[in-house]
Amino acid sequence: MGSLVDKVAIVTGSGRGIGRSIAEALLNEGAQVVISDINEELITQTTAELTSKGGKVLGVACNVTVSESIDKMVETVISTWGRVDILVNNAGITRDALFMRMSEEQWQAVIDTNLTSAFKVTKPVVKVMSKQRSGRIINIASTTGVHGNFGQVNYAAAKAGLIGLTKTVALEYASRGITCNAVAPGFIDTAMTQALGEEIISKVTEKIPMGRMGTPDDIAQAVVFFAGPGAYVTGQVLEVNGGLYT
Ligand SMILES: NC(=O)c1ccc[n+]([C@@H]2O[C@H](COP(=O)([O-])OP(=O)(O)OC[C@H]3O[C@@H](n4cnc5c(N)ncnc54)[C@H](O)[C@@H]3O)[C@@H](O)[C@H]2O)c1
Repeated sequence: MGSLVDKVAIVTGSGRGIGRSIAEALLNEGAQVVISDINEELITQTTAELTSKGGKVLGVACNVTVSESIDKMVETVISTWGRVDILVNNAGITRDALFMRMSEEQWQAVIDTNLTSAFKVTKPVVKVMSKQRSGRIINIASTTGVHGNFGQVNYAAAKAGLIGLTKTVALEYASRGITCNAVAPGFIDTAMTQALGEEIISKVTEKIPMGRMGTPDDIAQAVVFFAGPGAYVTGQVLEVNGGLYT
């Protein structure tokens, strides 16, 4: 039996990539998982695939930048499964450009989707968790939020902000049995990084001490740790990066 039997988990942006792997890993531990994404086609496909593997899965469309959409998702989860034990704020985008060339639109889109979203989604969920007097919140940050990165001033600022949010929510809710931690992935093989092209991918990979890009499952395993029954770790940021600390 897995460590998360009967736990209800919401994973935002879980139609594909890291979010999908997180959903799968939580299901393998016995959790019931909400597949939530802005892309309804991805939800239908992922929900069907994970259900066919025997998982208890609920697909709910949700745009994490829109409060009404978030409230509707949380209401659907509560009316279906009655509780929320685990929230993974995973949905995210990139709009890369060097500082001087970055437009206000690029800046704002990334701040809205990668940072403000966590504020908006965590609010209704932490209310439910407070009543339960237990919960696990895991935010998917990035090594870029810790160290910075060329061409990603918007993304670095959003992910650094997400780390600040993580540490503060951890303090404010510790007494209610709710932990809040962040996983900061390094260079992980998903559609987001494939978009960078072969040349950049091989240049970055050369610098990784472990000699390979991370897999979505490498990140999912760290999330499973924070989602688990151990309750004395909170406000932590775990870099999962194959040893590449830049
Ligand atoms: N891939 C990497 O190397 C890497 C590194 C560090 C951090 N991360 C972070 O991991 C998370 C997942 O990234 P990924 O690589 O799997 O990306 P991805 O693009 O493969 O998946 C992101 C998912 O989020 C969804 N999404 C986008 N905007 C949304 C919105 N407004 N509302 C709801 N869902 C939305 C997309 O539809 C997609 O399914 C992101 O937060 C990303 O910043 C990724």
